[in-house]
Amino acid sequence: MNRVRITDDLDFSRIVYGMWRLGDDSDTSPETVRDKIAGCLDQGITTMDQADIYGGYMAEEILGNALTPELRNRIEVVTKCDIVIDAGRHAGARVKHYDTSRAHIEGSVDASLRLMGLDAIDLLLIHRPDPLMDHHETGRALDDLVRAGKVRAVGVSNFRPWDWELLQSAMETSLVTNQIELSLAAHEPFTNGDLAFHQRHGHPIMAWSPLGGGSLMTGDGPVATILDRVAGEQGVDRAAVATAWLLAHPAGILPVMGTNNINRIKSLSDALKVDMDRQTWFQLYEAALGREVA
Ligand SMILES: NC(=O)c1ccc[n+]([C@@H]2O[C@H](COP(=O)([O-])OP(=O)(O)OC[C@H]3O[C@@H](n4cnc5c(N)ncnc54)[C@H](OP(=O)(O)O)[C@@H]3O)[C@@H](O)[C@H]2O)c1
Repeated sequence: MNRVRITDDLDFSRIVYGMWRLGDDSDTSPETVRDKIAGCLDQGITTMDQADIYGGYMAEEILGNALTPELRNRIEVVTKCDIVIDAGRHAGARVKHYDTSRAHIEGSVDASLRLMGLDAIDLLLIHRPDPLMDHHETGRALDDLVRAGKVRAVGVSNFRPWDWELLQSAMETSLVTNQIELSLAAHEPFTNGDLAFHQRHGHPIMAWSPLGGGSLMTGDGPVATILDRVAGEQGVDRAAVATAWLLAHPAGILPVMGTNNINRIKSLSDALKVDMDRQTWFQLYEAALGREVA
């Protein structure tokens, strides 16, 4: 599995394993979580994507219960903060909202470190752009967390280029990535300037819900027909082809895969075997657009 440079002393596996759905599994025992991580590590998938809010603020603890010191040293942990819902430690919140205040970010990071049993978070992402963000306060809080060694790198998620520039303008540390929704079911960033912005600046991009949250796997229609044809020709499954469609892009996208199924986890790296030539890429793109390109 090839690696992607994030900072001078941090790199990620090209394919990332996402833990949003970890708590949805009927079995969240440490043994099962360790089996999932082992299934990733066997293929060279070392980067685990978390967020404070996953599982109603429970998923980080599920991971923490499974992590041994040996296992922790073999993975990179990404987590996120700023979404607040009426659950877990934020029970009583009157409305779902975002909070990019210093106090909230610091409290969330401390909770993430404690729940996962970490000395440092490898990458912290601001989960969603906050309309009330004071970029000076947020930027300084993030810089201070890096300086304190609680966080090794900082990035964002679901930010548009102007949101990125606003926050970056108030920071000494460089933001390292933007995690955005990107798949054959959510392909606007290929043409709306989001990918171009990050490509121009050489930022790696993380793609969430690369299988459309499962919709690309279960649906039928023109995209599914082509995915199945290519999968059949190349001896892989539909997921591998849908993921390869993202991997083929020159921006160097890191898909964040969300399956809880151990057999699917064990074959995540099949996507790297797929030969996605330009015309096949466009056949899938046109099927997703529902029309021929102009
Ligand atoms: N930054 C953000 O705002 C944000 C938002 C959403 C997600 N994320 C991150 O992205 C990760 C991935 O998101 P995601 O889980 O939506 O990704 P995904 O990989 O697009 O979808 C995973 C879903 O697809 C299903 N699936 C996969 N292969 C299948 C198959 N062959 N047949 C039927 N169903 C299949 C899985 O079910 P099984 O478990 O049964 O395989 C699971 O429910 C999350 O874990 C999280 O880390 C980030």
